[in-house]
Amino acid sequence: METFIKSLPKVELHIHIEGSLEPELLFMLAKRNHIALPYDSPESLRQAYKFADLQSFLDLYYQGANTLINEQDFYDLTWAYIERCKEQNVIHTEIFFDPQTHTDRGIEFDTVVAGIYQALEDASCQFGISSNLIMCFLRHLSEEAAFETLQEAARHKDKIIAVGLDSSELGHPPEKFSRVFQKARELGFFTVAHAGEEGPAQNIVDAIELLGVSRIDHGVRCTDSEELVDYLIERKMPLTVCPLSNIELRVFNSMSEHNIVDLLRKGLCVTVNSDDPAYFGGYMTENLLAVHKALPMTKLELAQLTINAIDSSFISVANKLKFKELVWHYLAENHH
Ligand code: ADE
Ligand code: ZN
Repeated sequence: METFIKSLPKVELHIHIEGSLEPELLFMLAKRNHIALPYDSPESLRQAYKFADLQSFLDLYYQGANTLINEQDFYDLTWAYIERCKEQNVIHTEIFFDPQTHTDRGIEFDTVVAGIYQALEDASCQFGISSNLIMCFLRHLSEEAAFETLQEAARHKDKIIAVGLDSSELGHPPEKFSRVFQKARELGFFTVAHAGEEGPAQNIVDAIELLGVSRIDHGVRCTDSEELVDYLIERKMPLTVCPLSNIELRVFNSMSEHNIVDLLRKGLCVTVNSDDPAYFGGYMTENLLAVHKALPMTKLELAQLTINAIDSSFISVANKLKFKELVWHYLAENHH
């Protein structure tokens, strides 16, 4: 089964590129950019990756992002993630980036986009890995700041497929950004939002009804309301679930208590994703292996996770069909 999981074609829909910054690259960038770090080695930094909740993670995540300065840094960050995608048979990925983390430090929006986008173009040319870019607003910042960021994104409409909403969920509900998201949809962006990770099930409802989202990022707190679970099934609303993240940020006490496999079997369109792989102990394969170890699935169920991700992605109908054929073929060849 381990071989089946490793070679299974995968699609990732929830990865923060800043969250793929491994301690070794972080140290290399700090040296290159003459930035002092409060840790003496990548190992000692990794030792500090023990989180009590979402906020304690975010504090370290934003600190790590401060080592990203030049276009080349954003390129190197993205390329390192792409190499993992290649190793793990990720055929398509939709990548979040947090421009405000960088523009608030005086880095140009264009610098961030240029570095990430060039790596994604090279990924397509060299490895045939396809991708889309999603810009997230930091929900702990103001509506006004989000509007300014949306204006910058509009200049890069050709490179950014959707806008999302991340950072501290508690105290910053979806309604704070209804007007920004309405404007984003008018500009032709798809929308997604983190909801029901640490926050209540109501945030999932509000993200759908007030923000017009095509997918819910996380959404695992939906099981607090049976009615909401039925509504999500009926609406075929995808959830981009991040199992290792949920354990590391204590959304669930252990993987065996995670609700993802239950939700899958109920018919919800759930997907498996890595969120911030450098901080939570792994990429797509490690997430799938960890879920399967605690909550064994059939090959068909594992393949269904990729099919769900393909159906939930922002690619053309023709490409969805092409990717689904790859998965069906893989399943047929490796069923026994
Ligand atoms: N930013 C990066 N990872 C995040 C997460 N899991 N939740 C909210 N914001 C994030
Ligand atoms: Zn996330």
